[in-house]
Amino acid sequence: MLEIKQLNVKAESKIILNNFNLTINDGEVHVLMGPNGTGKSTICKAIFNHPDYEITGKIEYDGHDLTKMTPTAISRLGLFLLNQNPVEIEGITNAELIRSALSEKNNTHIDIFKFNKRLNEICEIINLPKSFVHRDINFNMSGGEKKKNELLSLFMLEPKFIILDEIDSGLDVDALKVVGASLKKYYETYHPAILIVTHHQDILKYFPKYQVSILKDGSIIKTGNEALAQEIETTGFEANVISGSKENE
Ligand SMILES: Nc1ncnc2c1ncn2[C@@H]1O[C@H](COP(=O)(O)OP(=O)(O)OP(=O)(O)O)[C@@H](O)[C@H]1O
Ligand SMILES: [Mg+2]
Repeated sequence: MLEIKQLNVKAESKIILNNFNLTINDGEVHVLMGPNGTGKSTICKAIFNHPDYEITGKIEYDGHDLTKMTPTAISRLGLFLLNQNPVEIEGITNAELIRSALSEKNNTHIDIFKFNKRLNEICEIINLPKSFVHRDINFNMSGGEKKKNELLSLFMLEPKFIILDEIDSGLDVDALKVVGASLKKYYETYHPAILIVTHHQDILKYFPKYQVSILKDGSIIKTGNEALAQEIETTGFEANVISGSKENE
C-alpha cells in the first residue's frame, strides 16, 4: 500500500505540491487528472525521491519511508515509473539494462536463452519490433516508440506498483489499443497497484474499476470514481471541478 500524507514538494524554491494526500491500496487502479502544470508529473517523480525535489511529509510504501531511499532502492521494492518523457540513454541497450536490473532484483544469474525468449514474447505482446531489444534505451526513438519501449522493461521486471505518467500521449490509435490491452492483461495476471496519470478516457476503458483524484494548484480538490473521469472528459476542469469545488465550500 502507498500512503502519501501532508506532502509538500518544492523545486527551485517554488512550491509545487502542498498538503497533498493520496492512498493507493494493493491491486487498486487510481487515476490522477488535472490541468497542465498542476504537479502530476512532480508527484510521480517525488514518489521515487527524485533529487530535483525538496520533500516534506509522508510517502510510505508497505511501511518503507520512500523519502529516505534512493530511486534504485525504491525500484527494488517493486515500484516502476514510466515517465511522461522517457529519458534517452546512448550506449546502453534495452537488453543490457533489463538483464542487469533483473539479475539485481532476483539476486541471481539470468539465463540468456530464457531471457531472450521472454524478451521476444513481450515484443510480440506489445507489438514492438524485435530489433528494439538491441537498441540503445529510448535513443533516437519517436515519442510513441519510447512509450512502448518502456513497456518492455515494465513487462520484464514485473513490478507490483506501476506509475504510468501519460502512457497514452504520443500513441497512435492502433498503438493505444495494443498498449491498453497489454496493460489489462498484465493487471489481470499480476494484480499490481497502478497510478495512471492521463488527460483522456481512452486508456481507462481497459480498466473496469478505478478511483479518480483531481489535482489543482498542488493539492487534490476532488475525488470520485469512473463517473468523475467521464464528467471531466465531457465538461472539462473549469466547468466541472472548479465550480464543483466552490459549491462544496
Ligand atoms: N524540477 C523542477 N524545477 C522547477 N520547476 C519545476 C520542476 N518540476 C516541475 N516544475 C514546475 O512545477 C509545475 C508542475 O509541473 P508538472 O510537470 O508536475 O505538471 P503536470 O501536472 O505533470 O503537467 P502536464 O499535464 O503538462 O504534464 C510546473 O509549473 C513546472 O514548471
Ligand atoms: Mg506531466
